Amino acid sequence: MKAAEASIPGRRSLLGVEHLTMRFGGLVAIDDVSFEAYDREITAIIGPNGAGKTTVFNCLTGFYKPSVGRLALHHQSGDFLLERMEGFRIAQRARVARTFQNIRLFPKMTVLENLIVAQHNKLMRASGYTVLGLVGWSGYRRAEKAAVDQAKYWLDKIGIIDRADLEAGNLPYGAQRRLEIARAMCTDPVMLCLDEPAAGLNPRESTNLREMLKFICDEHKIGVLIIEHDMSVVMGISDHIIVLDYGRKISDGTPEFVRNDPAVIRAYLGEEEEEELPPQGAGPETAGSAGSPPSKKM
Ligand SMILES: Nc1ncnc2c1ncn2[C@@H]1O[C@H](COP(=O)(O)OP(=O)(O)O)[C@@H](O)[C@H]1O
Ligand SMILES: [Mg+2]
Repeated sequence: MKAAEASIPGRRSLLGVEHLTMRFGGLVAIDDVSFEAYDREITAIIGPNGAGKTTVFNCLTGFYKPSVGRLALHHQSGDFLLERMEGFRIAQRARVARTFQNIRLFPKMTVLENLIVAQHNKLMRASGYTVLGLVGWSGYRRAEKAAVDQAKYWLDKIGIIDRADLEAGNLPYGAQRRLEIARAMCTDPVMLCLDEPAAGLNPRESTNLREMLKFICDEHKIGVLIIEHDMSVVMGISDHIIVLDYGRKISDGTPEFVRNDPAVIRAYLGEEEEEELPPQGAGPETAGSAGSPPSKKM
C-alpha cells in the first residue's frame, strides 16, 4: 500500500517527519514516529485521546522542541528544518500556519481586524520597519489595501462578509471556527495545520468545513494537515491518514487502507470490547457527533 502511494505521479513531499520523539519527564508522548505529508493533499492524523496528535503539531510549530527527530519542510522558497527554528520564524519564513483545539481568536476585536492582524508581518515589511507606514507612504498604503482585500476575500468565502464589523467573540461558534481558519490563511501558508476543526460543529457546519478544506487545498494549492475525530470529515476529505496510538504510529495509508487495518480497529474498539461500530449516521443527533462511529473517542 505504502509503496504504491509513494509512486503516485506528480506527488511531492511537503513535510518529512523522521523519528520524531517527544518526552515529558518519564512520559513518552511521541515515540519514534515517521511520516510524510504531501503538497496539495489533505493528510489526517487520527487516534484516541492522548495518542500524541496535538504534540505532533506543537513540535511542528515550534511550541515544543522535539527530544529527537527531524522535521523537514520543503517548498519553493527553500528547505526548512523546523525542529531547529523558533516558533515565530516557522510561521514567518517556513510559512506553517495552525489553528488550535480551543478557539483562539481575539474576541474583542472585530472579525475584519482579526484578519488584518494576521497580516502584521506583511504590513511591517511594507512599512520598511520604519515610520513610513504612519506617514502614509504609498507602498504601505498599497500593502494595507491588499491586506483588507485579502481579508474581505476570506470573509466572503466563509460567508460572514456582512458581519465584518462585529466583535469576533459575538459570532456563532461555527463561524468562529471558520474565521480561525481564514485568519490562518491570511498569513499565506504553504502548510495549514488544523487541530480538531470540526469539534462542536453541527452536521451542516461540518459539511461546510469539508467543502472549505477541499477548496483551500485545490484552489490555494497548499498542503493541509488535520487532526480530527469526526470520521465523516476524515474519511470524506483525506487523501492520506496517519494513525497514532499511545504515541506510536500504528497505521499509514489511504482512507480505505486505514479503515480496514486490523491494528486500527483494535486501537479504537479494544480487543476485549463487545461493542460494535454502529452503522454510519446511526449515532445521536447531537452537535459534532455526525457520522463518528467509534465507541472510544478518537
Ligand atoms: N506539556 C506537556 N507536559 C506533560 N505532558 C504532556 C504535555 N503535552 C502533552 N502531554 C501528554 O502527552 C500525551 C499526548 O497528548 P496530546 O498530544 O495532547 O494527545 P492528543 O492530542 O492525541 O489527544 C498525553 O499523555 C498528554 O498528557
Ligand atoms: Mg489533541
